Parts: sequence; structure tokens; C-alpha cells
Amino acid sequence: MPKPPAITRVLMVCLGNICRSPSAQGILEAKLKQQGLSGSVEVDSAGTYGGHAGEPPDPRAVSACAERYYNIQSQTARKIHYRDFETFDYILAMDNDNLTALQDCCPPKYQRKLHLLMEYASGKYQHSEVPDPYYGGTQGFHNVIHMIELACDGFIAQLPHKHRASHSAKRAGL
Ligand code: 4NP
Repeated sequence: MPKPPAITRVLMVCLGNICRSPSAQGILEAKLKQQGLSGSVEVDSAGTYGGHAGEPPDPRAVSACAERYYNIQSQTARKIHYRDFETFDYILAMDNDNLTALQDCCPPKYQRKLHLLMEYASGKYQHSEVPDPYYGGTQGFHNVIHMIELACDGFIAQLPHKHRASHSAKRAGL
């Protein structure tokens, strides 16, 4: 078995990078911090559509996240870049359309990095996609957060033992 890299890099991807993927970035970062894993895993987000690049997250996503104590307001939207396929170890799409968009431009050697985020919530949620809340109401943003929380818990649980060992060591004060 190859040794896991010292830092695992995760890229959350949706369409506009103003609703779902910044929420997913903020939620995963917060959960990693709670578990003492911030130093082992880096998280970023991007959109397959660049129309909102340079903008802050949608205010509805910011306030739905803030209600659960996730701070995403300092993020800035950007479009996925070719070099992201090399840089990141896990590239996690919110839905099948965005997964397909990634598969269409990802070099063959990096295709294995592409997944649906909801794969990691397996068994806990019947939906494989995080639905786009942009054209809906406030409840959609809360649903998105709930789904992402489940998937992030599953994602952290499957991280290489090394990361979880560093967590245990930290808790033990080593
Ligand atoms: P996101 O939501 O992909 O979760 O950031 C959307 C943001 C913007 C648009 C669609 C979805 N839009 O059509 O501009």
C-alpha cells in the first residue's frame, strides 16, 4: 500500500461556487477543526461555471450556514482550473451534471479523483446528489447543509489512518 500524502487536498465543486460548494468547504473545514485534523487536510471549492467568479457566497447560503455556526462569508467564488486536477486528491461534485462536466475536462490519469460528495453519506441518505438551491427558498439551503454534514462525516471517517491517528494523538496530549 502506498503511504498517504502528508496533506490531503479536497476540492468541493458545484455550478456557481456561491451556494453548495462554499457551504461544503466551510462545513468540512469546521468538522476537520473539531477533530483536530485541520493540519492534515486542506479544503477549497470551485464552480464549473465561471459566471459568479470573484463574488462572495450567496447571502442565503451564508445565513443558513451561520445558523449552524459555519462561517463561509470570507470565501470568493472561482472557476475550476485545469491545474486543480493535479493539485487536489479528492474532487467532490455536488451533482451528476457537475461530475460529468469535470469528467469531460479531467485528464485520464486523474479521473479516479472525481466523485460525488454524497457517495460518502452512503447508507445514511437516499439521495446521491446535493440539489441546487439557487432558484428555490430558504429551506433548500438548510436541506443542503444537512446533506453535506452527513457526507462530510462519512468522508472524514474514511480518511487514511494516519489522519485519524494524529487526531487520537492530539486528544491524548501527545
Ligand atoms: P451553486 O448554485 O452551484 O450551488 O453555487 C448556483 C449558483 C448560481 C447559478 C446556479 C446555481 N446560476 O445559474 O447562476
